[in-house]
Amino acid sequence: MESMIAIRSAASCPAPADIRMEAEEITRRVITKGNDPEEIQALIHELTTGKTGCLNRALTVLAGKEDNRPMISLAETEKASVWLLGWRPSKDATDIHDHGESLAGIKVLEGTVEEVVFTPPDWTRFYKMDGGETERMTRLLSAGTLLDVPKPYVHIFDSWKQVDFASSLHVYSPPLAEMRLYREEYREDDATGLRLSNHWKANP
Ligand SMILES: [Fe+2]
Repeated sequence: MESMIAIRSAASCPAPADIRMEAEEITRRVITKGNDPEEIQALIHELTTGKTGCLNRALTVLAGKEDNRPMISLAETEKASVWLLGWRPSKDATDIHDHGESLAGIKVLEGTVEEVVFTPPDWTRFYKMDGGETERMTRLLSAGTLLDVPKPYVHIFDSWKQVDFASSLHVYSPPLAEMRLYREEYREDDATGLRLSNHWKANP
């Protein structure tokens, strides 16, 4: 089936509401299995090819108005949720978080995102929250970068401080239903551990 709306360039961008309609249509068409990294990558490809300018335009309009992080829910189906997120310098960093039982695909659309990834030596111990040493790795993700996010996965997303604005498209499959938030804990032996600080559930 042809997508409902053809987005060719920023000059002919449809309204944000129509971008949402198209995203939901593409999501329904592409995601057939759910929880499948290849399906997630295919969905990101369809959602972004030739459309980055329009997605960014929708988000930057919002960024100028909002106190909170600019966010647009593009699609929510039984198999996937799709979010467009904006990152303003020193304003929109996430907490340390995971994505529950969801796999994710993330594409940086504009600017540069700074990501901190936390990797414990043993995820079983990690989820028992017994404070094992946790590796902390920081990296910069430039526009066009595509991340295949497995589970478990714990990270921080933020803008890189040297850019004005960054944006990214996030696909979660199954839809994001819970997130655990963590805080860092500095121990006497100089190792870093994480402690659970909050547990968000979409349907508690
Ligand atoms: Fe995340």
